Amino acid sequence: MNATVIGSQFGDEGKGRMTDIFGEGADVVVRFQGGNNAGHTITVGGEEYALRLVPSGVVRGKTGVVGNGCVVGLDTLFTEIDALRERGLDPDVLVSDRAHVVLPYHRVLDDVEEAARDEETTAVGTTGNGIGPAYADKAGRHGIRVGELLDAEALRTRLEHVVSRKRAYVEAAYDVETGDEFDVEGLFEEFRAYGRRLDREGLVVDASSFLAEREDAAVLFEGAQGTHLDRDHGGYPFVTSSNPTAGGAVVGSGVPPQAVADGEIIGVVKAYLSRVGAGPMPTEFEGEVAAEIRERAGEFGTVTGRPRRIGWLDLPMLRHAARVNGFTAITLSHLDVLAGLDELVVCDAYELDGERVETVPSSPDEWTRCEPRFERFETWDDRDWIAVAEGGYGALPENARAYAEYVADELDVPIYALGVGPGREATIVRENPLVQGRERELEA
Ligand code: IMP
Repeated sequence: MNATVIGSQFGDEGKGRMTDIFGEGADVVVRFQGGNNAGHTITVGGEEYALRLVPSGVVRGKTGVVGNGCVVGLDTLFTEIDALRERGLDPDVLVSDRAHVVLPYHRVLDDVEEAARDEETTAVGTTGNGIGPAYADKAGRHGIRVGELLDAEALRTRLEHVVSRKRAYVEAAYDVETGDEFDVEGLFEEFRAYGRRLDREGLVVDASSFLAEREDAAVLFEGAQGTHLDRDHGGYPFVTSSNPTAGGAVVGSGVPPQAVADGEIIGVVKAYLSRVGAGPMPTEFEGEVAAEIRERAGEFGTVTGRPRRIGWLDLPMLRHAARVNGFTAITLSHLDVLAGLDELVVCDAYELDGERVETVPSSPDEWTRCEPRFERFETWDDRDWIAVAEGGYGALPENARAYAEYVADELDVPIYALGVGPGREATIVRENPLVQGRERELEA
């Protein structure tokens, strides 16, 4: 049995902690999309680990695979591996030879393209890590794959073909002076050195074959970002450039669809909304309550430090996510953050041009014009949330349970875990499919 963990909103739902919990029963954890635009934080034994590229399961001694669907910033990869080693761990990380490499000029492109967009209308608010340009090169067949770093001749040929065209494009289209980021010789030296290190440490694999050879292994597919940042199913163009949805786990890891579809597909839901980039967000609100939530939950981008926008829970977004991903279950976190509010609402539908709309329109203009219809909920008080977590589901305040059950009923899926604080000890786990699945197999 496998499991896939997917963000159901705009990212930052707290997938790191849920991946950590559900990964307990996994042998292999696979990242299948994105790159170091992600920021997954997990807390183990009081130690905090913030990972952007390395699959979070490696902290618990699992094999972590960076799949072909990822774009790899090698400086981040090695910095993370080295930092984990310095903390006494022996991270078992493998990278697909088919994953694409983020090159320094992708970061330059990300910056100049974003700067050229109009702040009010077209800016995306990217993380500036070169993610979009790296995926654009992959699709445009200008990309360089991890496997090519191991072969000096292939790398040189690719760089010679690509870099001069990139330089000419940036200079002509954006009128900027280009520097070392576009120097073939310097890039060759830098990335050959990465290639030699990858080779020396045996980090590069054909990930699809690697996973196929371990057909009895329990695999956890770790999504980054969220459904509404998906380049196909999110609020295009205010999206990331990969597919953080369940289908992306198939394509981005090289496994057959059954590997994902026959397992659990768990949507990670935050009890309210946050968003760190630009784009529509009908339930967004500002003012004191938003500021309080932001402070309480530390709603500032892990990668960029930007304050996150805050909104009420949006059911049309969750319905869309449940449909696109085929959620078999959800988790609901940050219930503690909502404690003590004077007022609590959930958007159960939108009104657009006088019509009731229950899911998300594809046009960003229409989505912006959607007026949220709010359902009011009774609030709950702040309390000792660790004690609540110890007490289990029944120890949750009744109104918090009613809130959670409303969401689960609307999506028609069970809730496998509830978060009442950031750490593992502040999590109520009702079903841990890879752990309990294995126990049931042993019993049978
Ligand atoms: P990019 O992925 O850097 O190209 O950024 C595109 C959009 O996705 C921007 O709105 C980013 O803020 C957002 N984004 C990218 N990665 C994350 C993430 O891990 N969490 C939340 N938002 C993200």
